[in-house]
This record gives sequence, structure tokens and C-alpha cells, in this order.
Amino acid sequence: MCGIVGYSGKKSCLPILLGGLEKLEYRGYDSAGVAVYDGSKVKTVKTQGRLVLLREKLRNGLPGTCGIGHTRWATHGAPSDVNSHPHGTDRLTLVHNGIIENYSELKEELTQKGYSFISQTDTEVAAKFLDACYDGDPISSIRKAVSHFRGSYALAIIFFDRPNTIYALRQGSPLIAADTEEGSMIASDIPALLEYTRDFYLPDEGEILEITENNIRFFDSGGNPAEKKKVTANWSAEAAEKGGYPHFMLKEIYEQPEVVSLTVKTYLTEKCKLSEKPAKRILISACGTAMHAGIAAKQAIEELAGIPVVVDIASEFRYRSPVFCEGDQFIVISQSGETADSLAALRLAKKAGIPTIGLVNVQGSSIAREADHVLYTYAGPEIAVASTKAYNVQLAALFAVSIALAVQNGRLSEEEADWYLSELAAMPEKIKKVLALEKEVAEAAKRFNASDHCFFIGRGMDYAAAQESSLKLKEISYIHSEACAAGELKHGTISLITEGTPVVAIATHPRLWEKSLSNILEVRARGGAVLLVCQENVPVPEGTADILLRIPSCPPLFTPMLTLPLMQLYAYHSAILRGCDVDKPRNLAKSVTVE
Ligand code: AGP
Repeated sequence: MCGIVGYSGKKSCLPILLGGLEKLEYRGYDSAGVAVYDGSKVKTVKTQGRLVLLREKLRNGLPGTCGIGHTRWATHGAPSDVNSHPHGTDRLTLVHNGIIENYSELKEELTQKGYSFISQTDTEVAAKFLDACYDGDPISSIRKAVSHFRGSYALAIIFFDRPNTIYALRQGSPLIAADTEEGSMIASDIPALLEYTRDFYLPDEGEILEITENNIRFFDSGGNPAEKKKVTANWSAEAAEKGGYPHFMLKEIYEQPEVVSLTVKTYLTEKCKLSEKPAKRILISACGTAMHAGIAAKQAIEELAGIPVVVDIASEFRYRSPVFCEGDQFIVISQSGETADSLAALRLAKKAGIPTIGLVNVQGSSIAREADHVLYTYAGPEIAVASTKAYNVQLAALFAVSIALAVQNGRLSEEEADWYLSELAAMPEKIKKVLALEKEVAEAAKRFNASDHCFFIGRGMDYAAAQESSLKLKEISYIHSEACAAGELKHGTISLITEGTPVVAIATHPRLWEKSLSNILEVRARGGAVLLVCQENVPVPEGTADILLRIPSCPPLFTPMLTLPLMQLYAYHSAILRGCDVDKPRNLAKSVTVE
């Protein structure tokens, strides 16, 4: 939920730190700070508010070639100057991404030792606990301190008696490192370092890094020197920039044809068989948008492969004592591969001995490294907090997996599978057609913008699409929206439909069209204003909808891949009309690496 950076080299570190933090602001942006060794002492400058305020505070510069930086998403302690990072003592300073869950007992222990505290953060406790353990040997002191920590952390530390060196480690939070021509660097995520290199080290949990100006040394959890191989990110620096769009979100919406095509092509070539024999049952667990992709996958896997699928919100799954059965297979879906609840759900399944598959977008992420088998999606960097292209590539991958399972289960012949795969390969061009409707969608957003409420209804795969559509709208426009299974309306929700209430009816499934139509008429009869999304060539009776948007025809199972780009644009324009910060919506962060 926070972003950390570190640099040790021959260059002035401040521009490098601030530039890296800028690329990590999507991870959290309610305060920021740096600590830099200026040749005589380590100077800390930090502030509540966006990075631009920290830049203002540092407008006269800060000399030094070794430093660490942080951009925060508050977990313990409200956003404030005193709660912002770095935190430290008179012997060390550090920045932290994650949560030290047992910080209050550690704080009690430290108070007994005479330590006092000025912030409400778990990070200050971590810094003072490390201080209490520090005996002049960084590696053993760090190992000793973190052996008492429970929770998740990625830490970057400077000890004042060796101020040109940074120590770093991770447990449950992301961290990457790189030795470049400019010097040695660490960061929470790839975009922060992409302008310098595409070759990174991916430290394992518990490993400690010692970063000096021209070297990075690794120590395993036992404190012994370890060797690390680099991996190469298939992202370029400009790919992580806005590419001329006003917002990352719009850029990422328009990247969908390209990245869906890349993902489908990869899955067509690399046969995506999950295992030698198909599972008897598939458990899917994820959060937010990824969970909505799982709900769509359930429909596809059950319909095509005839395998029962259970989809769980990860934060529920990990605490509800799930019952595992012989023949189960567990799939965790995560764009970032770092979502704490999803990682915990994966670990729970692994502990039960269930074969696990991670469907992730970020190479080398924690989930990618811990799952027994990893299926990558190829959305490239998704910077906007609202997930768009990642959802569509997750669908593409999951539909390809569903087809492979159906063939394996003898439910689809090779020819039928080839037909489905050719339809899947045709989806990028159809997404382009949908994106060409942006003007109409913007008009629709304008017509419904007066209301602070919006309902999304659908049946089957359209209900799966409605759930993701609703999340998109609420998270960036702050309009209260909810998804309701169209057939469920009359069991309660319809009491909320009054004159002019906006209802987005997603009705793309031919077999369910008549039923969906009657639900739409129920809404109309109560005065609801209807935006109808249906397939082209479907006759829509006069007066059924106030606004009608049509998607190109495609297999009913694949329709969310076309409905969602429309709904993403609807959410985007609604947010713009309301003056919201589209890429960094309030209270949210891109990767929820804490519980
Ligand atoms: C969706 O727009 C949100 N950004 C959020 O719900 C996100 O999908 C969720 O936090 C899961 O993230 P992940 O895919 O990186 O695990």
C-alpha cells in the first residue's frame, strides 16, 4: 500500500528518489518523505500530502548520493507530517511498506526499555525495535529484530554509522533491486526503476540486501551470502507513461485490444493445460476486480468443462475454514500478485496440499513465486488504481483455460475448441469497435450524471459483468452503485427504483434476453431511466431504454470482454464530469498489500 525507493551511487540521489516515488504514487499518496546522507549526517525531510508538496519542501535540493524515500497510504495513524516516513532514531532511519501486526506489544516492550514515541505508526515501532537490537552488525541485528515482527514488510534502512549503505528486506510485501550504471537501487515496483533498467533482482522473503554505490550483496534468512539471478521485465519505460492520454486509466482502457491480443496469442501457443488430469473441483479466490473475473470464469468453466467452481472473496476465504476435497485445484487471480488477502488465501490452499495456480500480471510477484504453477497475463503495467485492461486479459486467459479444460474433460472436440479459440482471437478487433463508441458513452454518462445512485442489472455472464461495472463506477466517480442479479430485483432492490433512477441493464445473452427484457420493463414501470447494453442485431422494442449501446456479436460467454470496455468508459466519463481524480481515487491504492 506504500511505495519505497532507495539509491546508493555516485549521482545526487534526490532526483532519483523523487522520480521513483512519482512512479509509485499509485501505491499510496497521502504523505511522502526522504532521508539522504549529505556527507556529514542523514537528513530527513517529510510531509503530509502529495509528492508535489515534498518537492516544494526540497526546492533548494538536498546534497548526497545515498538515500531512501517513501510515499504512503495510511494504515496505522492518520495522514500527517509526524506519521509520514522515514521513521528512525539517532542511530538509524527506515521506510516501510506493509503492516507490523504485533506493533502494540513491541511498543509496550520498548516503552519498558525507555523508548518514547511521537507517531501513531507501526513503522516507528519497527525502527525503534531495530535500534534496540542494533549492535553494530547490520545483518545480524536486522535478523534479530524481524524475528520478533509479525505481519508484512518491505524495509529500506540506513544505519548512521555506515551512511553510504542501504539495507533492505521483504516479507509479504514487494521489493525489487537493480545495479545500474547510475548506481544501486531498490523499489517496491518495476515502474520506479524502468527508466534506468529492465533487469531486476527479485529478493525472496527473508533475504537481506546490502546496497552500496556499485554493488548489491544478498544474504539468506540464515545470514549467509546468497547468489541472485536477474530477471528482465518485458515493460519499457514509456509503456509505464501516459502515452499522450490525459489519464493512465484512459490509456489502459485503450490498450485492451493490444494486450488482450498478446495474452490470447500467448495462450494459443502455450497450451494452458492446468494439470495432467482435470480437477474434480476448482476453487477460485481473489479480491475486487480480480474476483469479478473469477465469477465470470466460474460460468465459463462450468458451462464448457462441466467442472464445479467455487469463487471466494479472498478475505473471506482465508478466515472461513474452507473445506478442501480430493481433486480440488486452487486458482488465485491477482493483477499485482501482491494483494495480502489473495496471498494469504494461496498460502492456506498450499498448506492444505491443494495444487495451486496463480494468474498474475506482474512477473516475479509474490503470488507468482509462491503458487505451484503460474499463468501470466500480459497487460503490461497497470498504473491507474481502477483496474481495466487487467480484467480483460484475466478474462481472456480464464476463457482459454476453460476451453482447454473442456477438451481435457472430453466436453469439447478439438474442432469445437478451435472455434472458441478463433472467436477469442477475434475479440481484440471487437473491443476496438466498442471503444469507438466512447462519444455515445460519454453522452450517456452526462445524461445520468445528476443522480448519486446507479444500479447495474444482468443475468448469468451479464450479472458477472454488472458486478465489475458497478465497482468501476463507484471507485472512481464516488457515485453509489450496486449490481443486482436482474431476476433478484423483485426480491428487494426494486424498492429503490423511483422516477429517473439510473439503471444500466446488461442483456447480451440471447437465451436470457426475454427474461432480461421483462426485468427492464419492471424498472421502466417504476420510472427508472434505463441504459441498455445488448448485442447488435437484437430487435429492441421501442421505448425499452432511454439509451441503447450495442456490442458486436460474440459467443455469449465472452460478452464481458466487450461490455466492460463500455462500462469502463462510462465510469471514466462519470468521474471526469464530477471532477474526480481518475487515476488516484480517494481512499484507494493500486495494490492492497495489507489486510
Ligand atoms: C479494482 O479496480 C481495484 N483496483 C481493486 O478492487 C483490485 O482489483 C483489487 O485490490 C485486487 O487487486 P489485485 O488484482 O492486484 O490482486
